[in-house]
Amino acid sequence: MVLTQQGRTKLNILPDREFYAFPRFVTHVDDRFISNLTNLYGKCLRPEFEILDLMSSWVSHLPQEVKYKKVVGHGLNAQELAKNPKLDYFFVKDLNEDEKLQFENCSFDAVLCTVSVQYLQQPEKVFAEVFRILRPGGVFIVSFSNRLFYDKAISAWRDSTGYGRVQLVVQYFQCIKGFTEPEVIRKLPSNDDQENKSPLSKIMQLIGLLSASSDPFYAVIAYRNFKPVHE
Ligand SMILES: C[S@@+](CC[C@H](N)C(=O)[O-])C[C@H]1O[C@@H](n2cnc3c(N)ncnc32)[C@H](O)[C@@H]1O
Repeated sequence: MVLTQQGRTKLNILPDREFYAFPRFVTHVDDRFISNLTNLYGKCLRPEFEILDLMSSWVSHLPQEVKYKKVVGHGLNAQELAKNPKLDYFFVKDLNEDEKLQFENCSFDAVLCTVSVQYLQQPEKVFAEVFRILRPGGVFIVSFSNRLFYDKAISAWRDSTGYGRVQLVVQYFQCIKGFTEPEVIRKLPSNDDQENKSPLSKIMQLIGLLSASSDPFYAVIAYRNFKPVHE
């Protein structure tokens, strides 16, 4: 196991379903983050793929112009998921109560988890389930930034840094035998970003309507190995 009992704790101990009971029709990261993610999906995912978007909401970060064979959504708020234009169908389930995914082994070519991994209290078990439902060669893409619902993130995440959080997700992958060595992608805001901002953006920053820097982009990716685990 990667986490200690203490590392799994949350400040808000009410059931997650209650926290997500009302829909939040907002985007959780900025346009630059979303464009990095959509580009990554464009490179890693093919139209013939069957995809599970784990811990999803009303927005999809999949490339708009691509029609995938099947996209299944999962999350905690049915109203949000019903609005997601990319989902063929969806289901609601609290993964901190029960991490089992009701799919046959080897059902998906890709599983996605966007800006949500920090809310999992049993990530090792969820990653094992993702491994089980991925086809050999299938990809799991976990992306995140530095924003979070602080009270609902696990302590190991809250108390960490950008570097530490990447390491944590790498370890979640590494504790499941059969994933390839995780690949890490980091796109951090630079000083140039600030200089290239429009005058309007700079004024909005000054009066506090826009945050000063863009959201850092992190993605950790691994594939289900073709080689059976027992060999
Ligand atoms: C910050 S939102 C991100 C939503 C979406 N992935 C996106 O990119 O907009 C976090 C999501 O994690 C999901 N989530 C949080 N706790 C969960 C839990 N215990 N079980 C299942 N899903 C959970 C909720 O559905 C929520 O929509």
